[in-house]
Amino acid sequence: MTDSMNLSTTERLRGQVDAYKEAASILTEVRNPAVLLSLLPSAARGFLVKRGKQGVPTLMRSGHEAYFDWTYTEDMPQMRDLYRRAKQNQWDAEVALDWSTDVDPENPEVPLLPYEFFASERMRDVGIDIRRGSREDLRLRHDISSWMLSQFLHGEQGALHAAAQVTECVQWMDGKFYGATQVMDEARHVEVFHGYLTKKLNKLYDINDNLFTIIDALMHDDRWDMKFLGMQIMIEGLALGAFGLFYKVTQEPLLKELLKYVIQDEARHVHYGVIALREHYKIALSSKELEERQDWAFEVALLMRNRFMAHEVYEERFQGALSRKQWNELVLSAPGMTEFRQTMFERLVPNLRFIGLLDRRMEHHYAQAGLLKYAGGKDASQLTGDEMLADLDARPMPMVGDTTVTAFH
Ligand SMILES: [Fe+2]
Ligand SMILES: [Fe+2]
Repeated sequence: MTDSMNLSTTERLRGQVDAYKEAASILTEVRNPAVLLSLLPSAARGFLVKRGKQGVPTLMRSGHEAYFDWTYTEDMPQMRDLYRRAKQNQWDAEVALDWSTDVDPENPEVPLLPYEFFASERMRDVGIDIRRGSREDLRLRHDISSWMLSQFLHGEQGALHAAAQVTECVQWMDGKFYGATQVMDEARHVEVFHGYLTKKLNKLYDINDNLFTIIDALMHDDRWDMKFLGMQIMIEGLALGAFGLFYKVTQEPLLKELLKYVIQDEARHVHYGVIALREHYKIALSSKELEERQDWAFEVALLMRNRFMAHEVYEERFQGALSRKQWNELVLSAPGMTEFRQTMFERLVPNLRFIGLLDRRMEHHYAQAGLLKYAGGKDASQLTGDEMLADLDARPMPMVGDTTVTAFH
C-alpha cells in the first residue's frame, strides 16, 4: 500500500488534477441549468477553495428574515403535538449512553461494519490484496466507518444551524416552539457523534466537498423553505437511511444504542419538515416557484446518490496505488453502498411525493433514474421513530454473503 506521505510530486499533481476534474464533473452531472447555477458559488467554495478543510472556522452569511408574531396564536396543532412529544422524549447523552463501553474499532469479534459492506477482496482486480478478516481489512472498515460517522457529524452541525435559522423564519408560532426542540436535538447529535469519533474511534475526517457544497448552498439561501427542503427533507432523509443501515448492521453496542436514540429524534425532524412544506407548497407558491423546488430536489437527490465516495479515505490510503476512477467504481459497487442508496431513497421519495414535489411532471424523471419504485412507501407523517426501528429490526440482515460486484445504475 502506498502511504500518502510517500507520494511523489507527479502523483500529487495527478491527484490534484483528478480533484479538479471531480469538481468540474458537477457541471455535467446537474442537467438543469437553473439548479446548476444556484449551486455553482457553493461548489466553488467547496471544491476549489476547500473552505471546509482549511482547519479554520467558516463564515456563512444568510439574509433570511426573523418572523415575529406578537399574537402567539396556536396555529398548527400537528406541530404543537410534535413539540409536546419532543419535550417528553428529550434525553441526556451523558446519562442515557454507556460511555464506559470499551470500543476497539478493529476488533474482529465486534466489527463496526460487516465485511460485506465494502468487501475488500474486490480490490484484487485493481492490484490491491486485502484479505477478508485481515488486519488491513479491519483497518479499512475502521476508516470507512469513521469517514461515514464524520460526515454524519458535519451534517449534524449543518442541521444545528439550519434548525436555528428555520426557527427564526417560520411563520407558525407552533413551528417555532417545535424548532427550538430541534435545535437542542441537533446539538445533542453533534455531541454524541463527536464524542464517539474522538473518544472511541480516535479518528475524525474532514467534511466531504459535496456535503459542504449542499450545506453552504442552504445556509446562503434566504428562503426558509429551501433551508427546510434541503436540510429537513434531503439531508435528514439521507441521514435517516444511513443511520438505519448502520444501526442494522453494526455489532458495536454503544454505536447501535447511540443510533437508536438519534433515529428517534430524526424521525420527528423529518415529520416536522413534511408537515410544514406540504402546507406551504400547497398554498403559498406560484407554479413556477414550485417547479423550481421540484427540479432542485430531484437534482440534489441524484447528486447525493452519486457523489458520496469517501474520497478522503482514498486520499489518505490509496492515492498513487489506484486511480480516483477505480476507487469511485469500487465504492459505487460496494454492497454496503448499494444497500445505502436503497434505504436512503426508501425514506426520501415518499416524502417528496407527500409534499408535492413528485407530481406527474416529475414522475418520468424519477422513473428514468430508477427511483419511482419507492414512491408508494410510507412518508414521515405515517412513521414514528419507534415504528421505523421496529421495521428495521424485523428486516433480514442485508448484504451478508453478498460480495459480488453489482453494476451501478
Ligand atoms: Fe440530527
Ligand atoms: Fe435532524
